[in-house]
Amino acid sequence: MSGITESFKVIETGYKERDNDFLKDVREGLAADSKHLSCRFFYDKKGSKLFEAICDLPEYYLTRAEREILVDQAKAIAAQMPENVTLVELGSGSGVKTQVLIEALLLQQMSLLYMPVDISSSALEDSAQVFLDRFSNLEIVGVSAEYQRGLREVRERIKGPKLVLWLGSSVGNFTRLDAAQFLRDVRASMRSDDLLLMGVDLRKDRAVLEPAYDDAQGVTAQFNLNLLERINRELGGHFNLDAFQHKAVYDENEGRVEMYLVSTREQVVAIDDLGLGVSFEEGEMVFTELSYKYSLTEIETLAEDSDFELLHQWFDGKKRFSLNLMGGVCQMKCVNDH
Ligand code: AVI
Repeated sequence: MSGITESFKVIETGYKERDNDFLKDVREGLAADSKHLSCRFFYDKKGSKLFEAICDLPEYYLTRAEREILVDQAKAIAAQMPENVTLVELGSGSGVKTQVLIEALLLQQMSLLYMPVDISSSALEDSAQVFLDRFSNLEIVGVSAEYQRGLREVRERIKGPKLVLWLGSSVGNFTRLDAAQFLRDVRASMRSDDLLLMGVDLRKDRAVLEPAYDDAQGVTAQFNLNLLERINRELGGHFNLDAFQHKAVYDENEGRVEMYLVSTREQVVAIDDLGLGVSFEEGEMVFTELSYKYSLTEIETLAEDSDFELLHQWFDGKKRFSLNLMGGVCQMKCVNDH
């Protein structure tokens, strides 16, 4: 790999997404009474590119709001860190956002170990190149693994304090119950004095939320429809993309945006690898994604339900998005850490 030096290595944990995971999800999801497909499968090569484009859309305020907080508050965030902290990130390098924090941490410590955790080794390599070009006193050890496994790997190797970064409001793609369970697992794989910095999108007006998930240029529609294209590419599907429409609705009671693919006519679509035809009614909806939004009270409850204490919160100027520093509650499972 050109330009990458001894300051970068990847720990491989042997995780491979099984080819039949997608097939299984499609078989189960399209046979269900209320059809569904998992948002986990949005992010193939094309889907990841489309998601990058979404982050630049005028309607999709989340990325800009989170970046604004990091730019404005990086020094304040860094000031909360213990000496010689190791930066761990769930996902591989959120580009500019992570760089802002790395820069601030390097103002108060001589060097920094950065450990991104991502299933994809190539994503780890791509982001490492950019970071190493910019920071000379940065060492990167990528961990190619699912998040929980990766965090356990990090915990075994790093005895000093860690800051775990989970940006982008990815927590929003879990149900509230699953989010608390996921964070409890994260907490259990951290040491007692480790910290978590998590980006969480806030509840707001439908007039802002629905366009953020149904933009004028139709990029989010392409992102959603790419699930059907992926079935065509990988499973011998015969979806006609013109016969499905993207739909995003905000359910205010639940505080979540729901995304669907809607069949615009009655049709039967063959999927060769499943050996069957799937029938759709006109107007039938295939549920694809939930994106939960949080009130400040709901963030506190989430922290409590997952054995974390909310230590600090920062917002963008329009209070659309929050960064939450969590840690502190030392349960029985973490007292014997050191
Ligand atoms: C990755 N995740 C936080 C995005 C979100 O906002 O829920 C995924 C997304 N779906 C449509 N647009 C963006």
